[in-house]
Amino acid sequence: MQTHEIRERFTNHFVKAGHTEVPSASLILDDPTLLFVNAGMVPFKPYFLGQQTPPFENGLATSIQKCVRTLDIEEVGITTRHNTFFQMAGNFSFGQYFKEGAIKHAWSLLTGDRADGGFGLDPERLWVTVYTDDDEAAGIWENVVGVPSERIQRMGMEDNFWSMGVPGPCGPCSEIYYDRGPEYGKEGGPIADDNRYMEIWNLVFMESIRGAGDKKGGFEILGELPNKNIDTGLGVERVACILQGVDNVYETDLLRPVIDVAAELTGTKYDAGNPADDVRFRVIADHSRTAMMIILDGVTPSNEGRGYILRRLLRRIIRSARLLGATGEVMEPLMNTIMDTMTPSFPEIAENRERILRVALAEERAFSRTLESGTHRFDEAAGALKAAGGTTISGGQAFELHDTYGFPIDLTLEMAREAGLDVDMAAFDAAMQEQRDRAKADNKAKKMGNRDDSLYREWVDTYPTEFVGYDQLTHDANVIGLVRDGEKVTEVNAGDEVEVILDVTPMYAEAGGQMADRGRILVGDTVLNVNDVQKIGKKLWVHKATVQNGGLDLGTTVTAEVDGAWRHGARQAHTATHLIHAALRQVLGPTAVQAGSLNKPGYLRFDFNYTDQLSEAQLEEIATITNQAVDADFAVNTIETSLEEAKAMGAMALFGENYGDQVRVVEIGGPFSIELCGGTHVGHSSQIGPVAVLGESSVGSGARRIEAYSGMESFRYFSKEAALASGLATELKTPSEQLPERIAQLTERLRAAEKEIENLHRRQLLGQTADLAAKAETVGEYSLVAVHLPDGVNTGDLRTMANDVRGKLNDRAAVVVLASADGGKAAFAIAATPQAVDAGIKAGELVKAFGQHVDGKGGGKPDLAQGSGANPAGIDAGLAALRQGLQG
Ligand code: SER
Repeated sequence: MQTHEIRERFTNHFVKAGHTEVPSASLILDDPTLLFVNAGMVPFKPYFLGQQTPPFENGLATSIQKCVRTLDIEEVGITTRHNTFFQMAGNFSFGQYFKEGAIKHAWSLLTGDRADGGFGLDPERLWVTVYTDDDEAAGIWENVVGVPSERIQRMGMEDNFWSMGVPGPCGPCSEIYYDRGPEYGKEGGPIADDNRYMEIWNLVFMESIRGAGDKKGGFEILGELPNKNIDTGLGVERVACILQGVDNVYETDLLRPVIDVAAELTGTKYDAGNPADDVRFRVIADHSRTAMMIILDGVTPSNEGRGYILRRLLRRIIRSARLLGATGEVMEPLMNTIMDTMTPSFPEIAENRERILRVALAEERAFSRTLESGTHRFDEAAGALKAAGGTTISGGQAFELHDTYGFPIDLTLEMAREAGLDVDMAAFDAAMQEQRDRAKADNKAKKMGNRDDSLYREWVDTYPTEFVGYDQLTHDANVIGLVRDGEKVTEVNAGDEVEVILDVTPMYAEAGGQMADRGRILVGDTVLNVNDVQKIGKKLWVHKATVQNGGLDLGTTVTAEVDGAWRHGARQAHTATHLIHAALRQVLGPTAVQAGSLNKPGYLRFDFNYTDQLSEAQLEEIATITNQAVDADFAVNTIETSLEEAKAMGAMALFGENYGDQVRVVEIGGPFSIELCGGTHVGHSSQIGPVAVLGESSVGSGARRIEAYSGMESFRYFSKEAALASGLATELKTPSEQLPERIAQLTERLRAAEKEIENLHRRQLLGQTADLAAKAETVGEYSLVAVHLPDGVNTGDLRTMANDVRGKLNDRAAVVVLASADGGKAAFAIAATPQAVDAGIKAGELVKAFGQHVDGKGGGKPDLAQGSGANPAGIDAGLAALRQGLQG
C-alpha cells in the first residue's frame, strides 16, 4: 500500500466518523518554544488549553501533520525507525469522546478489512501499553476491544505520559505496537524489545497542564485542562514500513528511490553487507526529505536556528555521499527524486521545485568548495594530535573548521568521533561566543535575545495587541503591562528603562526585515521615548522605552505616537527593498532567492542565495531598473487576501504561511513587484526618492548582499561623491570626467618614479661597498669586515650591501658584518664567502650570537643571514664579540 493511500484511508476513516479534515500546518509555526512543529497537536494547542473554541463541527478534527524532530539525528539510519521528518496522522477530540472513543476508533482502522477502508492488520500482532495506573484504559482494551491481558503492558512516565516537552497540555497515553516477528528481536512485548515491537500509534488522553522542568517526568502538574481531550498520533511512515513489508522506514516507497539514486551516483551498493555504508545511504534518504520539506516551508541555510539545522542536514548528505564514493555534485538528482516521491502527498511541492533545487544546490556548491580543504585540514590536525599522543581536538581548530571551512560543529564532532577523538567544546563555545559578541555588540542590547517568554505568556494569550499603524501614526491606548528589569511592575518612574504593553499601538514592531518604529508614549507631563518595539509571537507588541519625564502607572490611558520622520524613512527603505528585489530577479533570473533583508530609515540591505559574484554591469543594471521604477511613480497597493488568492496573483515569499491564512500582499506597479509583506510602505514609488546602490558582497556560503541608501540618504551620498570628485578635479586640475585617466597617468608616473628612486638608492648603497671591502682586517684565519654604519639603514639594505661586499672578497675566507640602528632598533646582516663557509662559518648562527647582544634574533643560510633586535646600544659589543669569536 502506497503511503498516499495510507493517508487517504486514515483521513476517510475519521471524516466518516464526523471529524473535520484540517490540512497540515507549515512546519514553522508562530510558537516561540519550538523550532519546528514536532507533533500533530501543535497547531491545535490553543484549543486544548481552552484559549480558543475549536472551529470544528462536533469538536472533532483529523489531520496529517508534517513534523520535524532533529534531536535524534545521530540515530538516523542506525535504528530502523528514526526519521527526522515524518507525517503524523491524528484524530482530535475537544471535550467530546475520550478514552473509549479513541481506542475504538484506532482499533477499527488498524484491524478493519482492507476492502472496507481499513489497514487490515492482524489483531494477533498488535500489543498495547498503558500508563502505570491507568486501569480505565487497560480495562477498555481488554473488555471492550478484546485484547488479551498478556498483550497489555504498563509503562511509566518516561514512555506513557505525553507532553510537548515544554509547559503546556499533557496527559497519560496508550501506545499501540506491531509485532514484526521473531527475526526482529526477542519475545516479550514492547517492554522487552522496541525494535521487534514497533510503536505505530500513540493515543494521548490530554487532561492536564504541566509546568517547566525536565522533559521526562521532572515537571509539576499545574492543573486540569478545561476539558478532557484526545490527541492521537499515528506514524505514517512506520505504518508504511509494515504495510509495504520492508525492513525499515528508509525503504518505503517515499525514501527507497532516493537510496537507489544515491547508489547509482556513488557506485556503491546498498544492502551489500556493509552496515556503515547502509547507514550513510539511509542518512542521505532521510535528510534529503527533511531538507526538502523545510526548504519548502521557507527555511534557507544559515548558521543559526532553523537555518543551521537545514545546513547541517544538507552538509551531512554531501559528506555521506562523498564517503560512499561520490566525486561530484549529488544534490540535484537526490532532490529531484525526493520531490517526485513526495509530491502525491504534498502537491504544493510541484510549484516550488525550482526554488527548492536552487537553495539546495547553492549550499552544495558553497560547501563543496571547502569540504575537501577542510577535511584535509581536519585529517592533518587529527594526525598531528594522534602522533603527539593527544585525544582532544582543540577549540581553536574546531572553530577554524567552522569559520574558514564552513564545517558545522556537529560535523567536526562526528568526524572526531569516527577518528576516536574528542573536541574541546568548552573552548569552541567560547570562541563562538567571542565571535557572536563582536558581531552583535551594537544591537544586542536592544533585542529581546534572552527573554523569558513565560513572563509575557498571560498577555500573549489574553491581550493580543491591535496594530493600527498602517494608516495612523498616533493613537490612544491603555497600559496593559509594564516590565522593568525582567519583572512585571505596576508603575515606572523617570529614568527607568522599561517595556510597555499597550492594548493598541500605531508603532511598527520589527518584522520582515523592517526595523521597529521610534516614537513616544505620552500622558500629561509624562514622556517615554520608545527606542525599539519587538513582537512576542505574532500577537504581542513590546515597546522598549526610557521614561524621560514623569511616571506611568498600569491601567493609564496614554497617547502612543510614531516618530513621523523615522516612519517616512522606514517606508522609503522598505519599498526600495521590494524594488531592488524585483530588479534583481529581472537581472539574475529567479535564481536569486531572498534570504533576508534589513531596512531602516535611509538604508537597506538585501541578502539572497546566489553563488556567483555580481559583475559591475549587473549591479549597474539593477540600480537602473530600481530607479526607473521610482521614476515611473508606480502605485503601491496593499491587499488583504487569502493565501490561495495571493498565490494566484504570483506573490513571492509564500512560505511559512498556512492554508486558510489571511495574508497581506504588497503590489508595486502591477506585475513589477508582488510580495507577501506586513511592512509599511510609501503610497507611490516616487516617494522613495533616489536609490543609491552601494555594492554587493559575500555573506557566507552561497549568499550575497546588496546594500543601498534611499531618500535623502541617497542624495547625501551622491552629493558627497560629487564633492569628492570635484575636489579631486580641482586638486588635479582636470575636468572631473577625465579624472580616471588622469589618476591612471599619475599612478603610472608615481610607479616609474618609485622605481627610479629605488635604483638610485641601490646605486648609492652599493657605491659604499668598495670602501667597506677595503676595511677588511685579518682576524684569525679570516678577513673580517665588521662595521657599525650610520643610523637609519634597514635590514634589507644591510643585506644587499653585505652581499655585495662579500662579492668583492670572494678570493678568500671572508666574513662581512654590517649593523645599524634603524628606527630605534638594531638591524644587522652577516655574509660569508664560500671559503669561509667551507672553513665552518655559519652566517645563520653568527646572527643568532650577535642577536644576544642587541636583544634580538635572526636567521638565514650559512652564507647570508640577517636579524634585528630591540637594543641598538648593544651593536658595538656584538661586533666586538664576533671579532673575538673569529680570533679562534
Ligand atoms: N502528541 C502525541 C505524539 O506526538 C500524539 O499525537 O506522540
